[in-house]
Amino acid sequence: MKTLNLDITHAQYFVEKEYESLLAKSAEALETLNNGTGAGADFLGWNTLPSSTSDELLGRIEKTAERLQENCDYVVCVGIGGSYLGAKAVISALSDNFADFYGPQPKRPKVLFAGQNIGEEYLAELQKLLKGKRFGIIVISKSGTTTEPAIAFRLLKDQLVAEAGEEKAKNLIVAVTDEKKGALRTMADQEGYETYVIPDNVGGRFSVLTPVGLLPIAVAGFDIKKLISGAADMERTTKHASPENPAQEYARLRNALYQSGKKTEILANFNPKLHYLAEWWKQLFGESEGKDGKGIFPASVDLTTDLHSMGQWIQDGERTIFETVISVKEPSITHRIPEDAANLDGINYLAGKRIDEVNKMAELGTMLAHVEGGVPNIRIELHALDEYTLGQVIYFFEKACGISGYMLGVNPFDQPGVEAYKKNMFALLEKPGYEKETAAIKSKLK
Ligand code: PA5
Repeated sequence: MKTLNLDITHAQYFVEKEYESLLAKSAEALETLNNGTGAGADFLGWNTLPSSTSDELLGRIEKTAERLQENCDYVVCVGIGGSYLGAKAVISALSDNFADFYGPQPKRPKVLFAGQNIGEEYLAELQKLLKGKRFGIIVISKSGTTTEPAIAFRLLKDQLVAEAGEEKAKNLIVAVTDEKKGALRTMADQEGYETYVIPDNVGGRFSVLTPVGLLPIAVAGFDIKKLISGAADMERTTKHASPENPAQEYARLRNALYQSGKKTEILANFNPKLHYLAEWWKQLFGESEGKDGKGIFPASVDLTTDLHSMGQWIQDGERTIFETVISVKEPSITHRIPEDAANLDGINYLAGKRIDEVNKMAELGTMLAHVEGGVPNIRIELHALDEYTLGQVIYFFEKACGISGYMLGVNPFDQPGVEAYKKNMFALLEKPGYEKETAAIKSKLK
């Protein structure tokens, strides 16, 4: 098994004492997680999800994906937060960087996303693109009541019914939601859409390995069995407490760094395909740990791109940060820098080298410079960018997040803070049932 490699050499010595002292606490947090005895224990379904995902479910998802692939050139995934970022992260990591410019291929629909914002232009322009095209919709919402996807779904469903007719539209819409409750469940049952259930005990940001992520990923043409197999191997690797358990090590080190005043973690990648993996990671850790006045702030940069914009700050700004680099060992393509007789650009010293060799030296040079500048550096090496490795890294981060949250002393599985903006928005929009809040908020605005 080619496993993900965690290298903490260039971070551990910054906090040797704190790191040592947290071994027992990290083991205890892992035990609490495994035994289901901590806060939020009703939401631990993700912990054993890879090993318990049945072939039957995967087969059914693949069949649905085939139906959408055969009948659609575009499939729009409607969802936000945990109902969006996991699929987006995996599809971006596995796709050609310029896939969008190639257009749909036979039985390979373009997977688009909506309901992850409330952009008027975004929705109007998406609908313009879809006009007259063969498209389908995967609508995803655990609660089934989230406003952003509800607006997008209403618009897209109306368009699909108007263009394809009611009967055909039903066959082109799949809903992923709660088994029993929520407006989306009611609508799906009434309209007769095919549905998939998001297990009760799996929270949104931990749901990428349920149909929430698996169906869009399968529609995009990627192997969900390999994804699950990578995650299942990581589930085994990280199950038992040990100083070598990589999820426990990462959680322990993050907490040691946090205690020593490193309040921001920057996830850095050296591959543009990993941009959305960082977005998914930010939600996972931000929503899980940022509560009760505590929590590392999860930030991200794309390198080397952002070295030319954020490099100065990272090297020399306030020393409250540490960096976690995701590095891909083997690019899937070999591409070399050509020789140039005139050498006017002065880069003939690189001629014949793989572009990745230059990238890896940029990575090493950056690490040495940042460490020298007082930024601890954690390195996570993925063997390659494929389904198996992505399954591994997804589960690795989920497990580390659960352990880390318990070590921090928060409930990593709730998100009470997310409700605050919604309450204000509903009050401002005068949603029925919010009359008291509407009056209160309007009085504040006078
Ligand atoms: O992780 C979470 O719980 C949230 O970010 C949700 O995923 C997000 O708010 C979307 O919720 P829902 O799937 O209920 O529409």
